[in-house]
Amino acid sequence: MTVLLSLLVIVHLLGMAGFVAAWAVQRQRPAGTPLISLWAWCVLVMSLSGFALIGVGIAAGEENGHIKMIIKGTLMTVLGVTVLVYYFRRRGVTPTLPAALAGIVVAEVAVSVLMD
Ligand code: HEM
Repeated sequence: MTVLLSLLVIVHLLGMAGFVAAWAVQRQRPAGTPLISLWAWCVLVMSLSGFALIGVGIAAGEENGHIKMIIKGTLMTVLGVTVLVYYFRRRGVTPTLPAALAGIVVAEVAVSVLMD
């Protein structure tokens, strides 16, 4: 269980790094071009690894703070829906969208690190 939890944390942190890479690549592109696919892949990786961390954690007898998980799940829903709508509808990115998405990722990290 501990090994599985550690592997899931590694996948979770790689997904977070993927969001940073997506932001860095996206900001080089002109406004009006669609989101790159890395955003959508990272939404998938973070959602799956995040909820797996909760499930495996419960099975291992670990308790994650409920309020923390509700906030993380809500932020992820806002981020995920925005990314998937823009990505699958091939909508042109507004100049502020990459920074707004990165801001939600930073908020997720802050909640993860600062809340119990
Ligand atoms: C952009 C999305 C997300 C980011 C950037 C993010 C970031 C992080 C970070 C930095 C950690 C700390 C890792 C450690 O040092 O152990 C963490 C842990 C964790 N995350 Fe996420 N996360 C995201 C989404 C989610 C989602 C959607 C869930 C599920 C609702 C989730 C559930 C967890 C759990 C259960 C842990 C381990 C326990 C804890 O830290 O309390 N995460 N996340």
